[in-house]
Amino acid sequence: MVHTPAELARARERLAGVVGLVPTMGALHDGHAALIRAARARCDTVVVSIFVNPMQFNQAADLARYPRPLEADLARCRELGVDLVFNPSVDTMYPGGPVQVWVTAGELADQLEGPNRPGHFDGVLTVVTKLFTAVRPQRAFFGEKDYQQLVLVRQLSHDLGLDVEVVGVGIVRDPDGLALSSRNVFLSEDERRRALALPRALQAGRDSGRSASAIVAAARAVLDATDGIEVEYLELRTPDLRLPEAGAARLLVAARVGQTRLIDNIAVEIG
Ligand code: PAJ
Repeated sequence: MVHTPAELARARERLAGVVGLVPTMGALHDGHAALIRAARARCDTVVVSIFVNPMQFNQAADLARYPRPLEADLARCRELGVDLVFNPSVDTMYPGGPVQVWVTAGELADQLEGPNRPGHFDGVLTVVTKLFTAVRPQRAFFGEKDYQQLVLVRQLSHDLGLDVEVVGVGIVRDPDGLALSSRNVFLSEDERRRALALPRALQAGRDSGRSASAIVAAARAVLDATDGIEVEYLELRTPDLRLPEAGAARLLVAARVGQTRLIDNIAVEIG
């Protein structure tokens, strides 16, 4: 494990072949493990970063309660054959305090998660740029769970010419269908039951045929029939998050269950 960009630079010189980076905020679960396995399969060397990035949190309370089980995370990385873990402190990532110069997301972030989490994607893209610069990977692995993040990071690499191939990895779910998330630990048993309306709604949408309005209506009906969840959005988009048109599409949802905010999405076909 290395903690500073200087240590990382020294360790990086010894990493051979195609380097794959899996950026995480720790509290590793089987979703993160799927990213690490994908990186193992497609790269010679795998680097995992574990950094809870304060610049992407809108609420201090959310940052403060974010789980940080570092020892368990390191054990998981060892099991999965990770070559190097980069675990910087906030001070080493942001010497002298928050950055003055940001990478801003632009209009792709004016929808879905963006309006609900002002500044979030600027924080994500800024830290991902710093991680890419520090690690210099040829490939980087991001989950479809955070679909808008994946699309934005791909656009980041393209627009700024970072020369990193951004690889998307499918969503890993618990057997009951709930997408794995570090935030699921905050759900009570009852909230967890309600939260299952998200994957069920997406599946109902997908099963309802190819009409865009029928897909959204079927998903909406499942959400409406569940008490105690507050839907923030339910939207259909193209795979690169433009307004939907015939062909491959994504149905995306965000909802609050108690204090916990959950997101999920699924691939659908329309037209
Ligand atoms: P974090 O929430 O730790 O997620 C790290 C990566 O794991 C992301 O690419 C996310 O999409 C992926 N992931 C999480 N749950 C998943 C699941 N159930 N199935 C598949 N992939 C899953 O996303 C972040 O951290 C941060 O924003 C980060 C990119 C590290 C920048 O700080």
